[in-house]
Amino acid sequence: MKLRTIENIDVRGKFVLLRDDFNVQIVDGVITDTFRIEQSMPTINALRAGGARIAICAHLGRPKGTKNMEYSMTPVAKYMNIPLIPDCLDKEFMKNMKDGDVVLLENVRFYPGEESNDPNFSQKLAEGFDIFINDAFAVSHRAHASTVGVAEILPSYAGKLLASEIEHLSAVMENPKRPLLSIVAGSKVSTKIGVLKALAKLSDKLIIGGALGTTFNYALGGKVGNSLYEADQKDTALKILEYAKRNNCEVLLPLDKGVAKEFTKDAKRVNKNFTEIEDDDVIIDAGIATTERDTAAIRNAATVIWNGTVGMAEWQPTWSYGSFAIAKTIAEQTRAGKLESIVGGGDTVAALTACGVKDDITYVSTGGGAFLEFIEGRKLPGIMILENK
Ligand code: 3PG
Repeated sequence: MKLRTIENIDVRGKFVLLRDDFNVQIVDGVITDTFRIEQSMPTINALRAGGARIAICAHLGRPKGTKNMEYSMTPVAKYMNIPLIPDCLDKEFMKNMKDGDVVLLENVRFYPGEESNDPNFSQKLAEGFDIFINDAFAVSHRAHASTVGVAEILPSYAGKLLASEIEHLSAVMENPKRPLLSIVAGSKVSTKIGVLKALAKLSDKLIIGGALGTTFNYALGGKVGNSLYEADQKDTALKILEYAKRNNCEVLLPLDKGVAKEFTKDAKRVNKNFTEIEDDDVIIDAGIATTERDTAAIRNAATVIWNGTVGMAEWQPTWSYGSFAIAKTIAEQTRAGKLESIVGGGDTVAALTACGVKDDITYVSTGGGAFLEFIEGRKLPGIMILENK
């Protein structure tokens, strides 16, 4: 994939509309994870150094086209120490901008035209700008006005983060060091069918964990008690297993689970296999035997792709056991130079951060849904439009 990048463009004195993904978690006005912002800084700094006049366009949450201040970009502007323009269509601020200045526009999703990719809205958003740069890999799977609409109007380029995401993810998809182990977990089979099939085709081994794994265990006749799983995905799960077999991919399903009598952080943890689980048991984490087998599989792999925690990793320390063991083993092997590791997805990256190993991973993607769609081999609209024809 050949993208138009910002490497050789002259931005001095130009008004640049820069799309970033600052869709970060905010609790009581405080950003709990600044990863996406930090990863966006190299492009912002390069544009500043080049003398551009930059307005960053971003979204927060899903305000559904209305001006709901609960989703204001204010905490992000404060964190970055840059002015917030209270309306993303207001152009007054441009009059006072000097080369190297940066502002943040208020949530672009306050307008319904953003998500519907309304051409009139795109026109208004693009007005006054000379160049559009998309650095928001994490929202490039959405064909919105600020990802696709403005790129059809202005000369448009990929920022450094977007280009780096494509480079790293493409490399692992096209030419992975083998054996390649993929670990997919999370809650729903229905949202991960595409990625499970793509990874079953690509990988030598595939670990399916979390509630996703529970659905597979259920499909094979295991007891799952009162746990989260999708009974209606039984056939899909069986088809995915057949598909993996046809593609010579060995699937590793959960062998046992950490269960409790109630779904709470402080519930008493008991380890059970799938014949022992009782009707009132609820599965909250991977079990001991599963975790031992999974960490051994990581030690035997040359590449690992990981998306999805295998339990309630945020309920530490009792229920983070399985996910943290995976995170630490991937980190150890990568640090030792024995493994190339690619990790994506909000909860998964949060687990890396929580056990302090994020910097050990070969590549951590800022994408959640976009990461999954890219791995699945789908064409992301916000990226396609930046391709050199
Ligand atoms: C994300 O957080 O994955 C992106 O910002 C996309 O957000 P969305 O799913 O609300 O479109």
